[in-house]
Order: sequence, then structure tokens, then C-alpha cells
Amino acid sequence: MDPILDLDYIDNRTPEQAAASDTKLTASTNTGRARKLYIESYGCQMNFSDSEIVSSIMFEQGFDTTSEIGEADLVFLNTCSIREKAEQTVRNRLGQINHFKKKKPGLMVGVLGCMAERLKQSLLEEEKIVDLVVGPDAYRDLPNLINEVDGGQKAVNVLLSREETYADINPIRLNSNGVSAYISIMRGCDNMCSFCVVPFTRGRERSRDAHSIVREAQALVEQGYKEVTLLGQNVDSYKWASEDGEERVNFAQLLEKVALLTPDLRVRFSTSHPKDITDEVLHTMKKHENICKYIHLPAQSGNSRVLELMNRTYDRAWYLNRVDAIRRILGDECGISSDMIAGFCTETEQEHQDTLSLMDYVQYDYSYMFFYSERPGTLAARKLEDDIPLEVKKRRLDEIITKQRETSLARNKRDIGKVHKVLVENFSKKSKEQLSGRNDQNKVVIFDKKHYKKGDYVTVFVHDCSVGTLFGEAVD
Ligand code: SAH
Ligand code: SF4
Ligand code: F3S
Repeated sequence: MDPILDLDYIDNRTPEQAAASDTKLTASTNTGRARKLYIESYGCQMNFSDSEIVSSIMFEQGFDTTSEIGEADLVFLNTCSIREKAEQTVRNRLGQINHFKKKKPGLMVGVLGCMAERLKQSLLEEEKIVDLVVGPDAYRDLPNLINEVDGGQKAVNVLLSREETYADINPIRLNSNGVSAYISIMRGCDNMCSFCVVPFTRGRERSRDAHSIVREAQALVEQGYKEVTLLGQNVDSYKWASEDGEERVNFAQLLEKVALLTPDLRVRFSTSHPKDITDEVLHTMKKHENICKYIHLPAQSGNSRVLELMNRTYDRAWYLNRVDAIRRILGDECGISSDMIAGFCTETEQEHQDTLSLMDYVQYDYSYMFFYSERPGTLAARKLEDDIPLEVKKRRLDEIITKQRETSLARNKRDIGKVHKVLVENFSKKSKEQLSGRNDQNKVVIFDKKHYKKGDYVTVFVHDCSVGTLFGEAVD
């Protein structure tokens, strides 16, 4: 595989981040239900969170989840459309699942999520193996759709909603380490970034009832979870009002409500939008020690003309002003990460250099980096020519990746010789004698196990690092 195309090339991601960008996850519940569901999730954390809602709906319908596709009566792929490659991955996977179906002719196959929403009915014609196509706002209809398929028909529901937030559904935590969990606080997106398919696949932005979010976080605390990540495509535009309009909650206030549950619970959030992130949010982060000092603030480009073409609604100066506000209010210790797109329509070499110089200025701890992939139906696909040759896109992306590796290493080196509070999530990938966790800034820290275990907060003295990881020793 082309290393530039492969995100693992720069794998300093947490397991969650890795999962959110390109891997699939499965998990099992085993309560002796009549039928078994195998579900794979692709794409962003919202999709992984949705799979937990889907599993809950299917559980009520008499399905256990299984992590063995061979045991399954029903296979769901919860899909992503963000780049062409994401859709191709799913199509390849459907090809493989076809083999299973030959051995088990009754096997039902469903495509869920963003690709279902984008391709709708035509997915049934293009991929003969698919029995049902269900968009992100239609999961409550799954029981009816399954009945239709049981009755020998194909079934489709891709209606988008202005209200659905699945607030009352208690997610079944899939693949959970029992330490950290995601909570969806909103759905959809009202921004129209010209490259992006999400507004079309996820519909209008809507915020979930603040009380149901706090209740979900409280329930997780009671189950022993130590960390929650509040999820939305643009968390800073979260706003909820009670029906009588008496109570209004913005993102900073929501963050505070969750942080106040217990100081023992770490609170994270993603994604922040540069146009909407407020000083109020930054001050709330500062006020509560348990709100992690880490902000994912995608820039996409460092050049104002390109940002305008992208319809990001901020320019370079605005973005840098937000970074300065983070540094002023939260200090240099706050972790910052970004998403970058190389080779957007008409981007010149000089404009690409502006992205590199922005990276120099901000000193990101981490970035997710992509080359532009035109998505049908988006503003850019309709109005702009995808005119940067693939090899130029790849070369620019490679330069962005090289820059980020240097910066990640430099930022990690600054952590050497300091103590960090680490929440243990698991054994390290390499050895059962070592544990892996994350510090406040979301960096992976590996250290010898001693008497520590999953879910512990451990003070770790860091003595070494790589581009993606800090290495240290627990100090009792
Ligand atoms: N809501 C988030 C982005 C979610 S999509 C935000 O506004 O920051 C995750 C990332 O995928 C985007 O930030 C962008 O960098 C990338 N992306 C989206 N559409 C893309 C496209 N057509 N080609 C390449 N990368 C894309
Ligand atoms: Fe896409 Fe822009 Fe919305 Fe993010 S903010 S999901 S990039 S339209
Ligand atoms: Fe992909 Fe849909 Fe998320 S397109 S990135 S799964 S919102």
C-alpha cells in the first residue's frame, strides 16, 4: 500500500483515533438471543457511536451482537463516504462478505450510515448482496425493515430528520475497554464546507437534550467509566433549549455540567470548529481540571483564499487568533491537533507553503492529513475543477506529513523529564508487562505495569519518546 495513503504510516493515534479513521470494530454480547448481528463500523467516531445505538435497537429486537462473522445471521456495515477510498473499502468488504453468503444463503446484509444515505436505493442495484439500506436518522425503523427482509423483500429507509438524536436509547458499548466511552451530543452539520459530504449524509444540525447527555455520563460513571468524549461535527455550535424555553444550554455550559459530575471523570470533546470555538469554552476548560487540555481544531488549509473556496468561513488570521487565544488562556501545555487537506482545487505551490507555515506556527501535536478527494454533489464538485494532478496532491501531502512528524517529535521531546497524569486504558500492544494510557493532552504513554491496572490514574515520569508515543515509569 502507498504509505502516504495509509494512515498507519503516521500511527501516533490512540486506538480510538485509529478506529475512527480507518479500521473496523466489532464486539459481542452473549445473552442467548435467537439471532446474531455482526456489525462493522467505518469512518468517524460518530459512526462508532451510532453502531452502539444500532446494537441496542437490534438487541431489543432479539439480536445478540457477535464478533465472529461466521456466527452471524445479519451483517451490518456502518459506512463512511468522506473520501472515495472510504467507499471503496466498503465495496471491497461487501465482495468478501459475498463469500460468507455463499456458505450461508440466509445471511442478511445491511449497509448503514453515510454511504447508505448518499447512494440510497441505487446501492441495492449496484451491490446485489445488499438486502437493506438504512441512513443515519432511520435506525428506529430497523425492526420494520428487518421484518420486510424476513418477508423476502429488500428494504430501504434513508429519510433524514430534523429532530432525531436517539436521546432515549441506551447504547450497548461495543469494543469498550470499560474506561472510556463516547457520547453523541448532536447530529448533522449546518456548515457547508465545499469539499464535504457530511451535510448531505447526516442532514441538519440538531442538539441533543442536555439532561439526557448528563444522565448518560452519570450512568457511565456508575458503571466505572473514567473518561467520556462528547461528540459532534461542530461541538461549539451545540445549543439546546427546553421546550418552554426557560432553560438554555450552550457547549461551554454542557461541558461544565458533565465535568461537575465527579472530578474523577475525564471529559474530552471533538470536533471544535475554528469559526465557533469561544473564549468561554477555553475558560471553562481552564476552570475544571478534569476537562482535558486538548483541542482538535481542524484548519484544513493555511491559506485564506483556499479557505474561502473551501467555504470554511474563517481565514488564516482568524484561525491564528483562535490558536493564540488557546495559548493565552490555557498555556503552551494544551494539546492541539488538526485536519489538513492537500491539493484542494486550484491550490498553488505558494498556498500549499502557507499550510506548512501555519503548521510551523501552531506546532500541532498531531494531525490527520488527507489529499483532496472530490465527492459527488458537494459544492466543490459542482463549482470547482479538481485540477491538481494526483502526483502533486500526494507530494504536497507527503510534505505535510513530514512536517507533522517533525513537529510531533519536537512536541513529544518537550514532555521528557516531566510527570504526566495517565489514565490506563489497556496493556501495551507489545507486552502484557506494560500498560498503555493517555495523558491530558491525548498522547499515548507506555510504562511498566508494576501493580497498576486498567482504569487507574497513574503518575508517570516520561524519559523517552517517539513520534507517536511517550515512554516512562510510574512514580508511586
Ligand atoms: N466536522 C469536522 C470534519 C469531519 S470530516 C470539521 O469540520 O473539522 C473529517 C476530515 O476529513 C475533515 O476535517 C477533512 O480534513 C477531511 N475531509 C472531508 N472531506 C474531504 C474530502 N472531500 N477530501 C479529503 N479530505 C476530506
Ligand atoms: Fe464537513 Fe465542514 Fe461540517 Fe466538518 S464542519 S462536517 S468539514 S461540512
Ligand atoms: Fe464518514 Fe459520515 Fe463520519 S461520511 S466521517 S462516517 S459523518
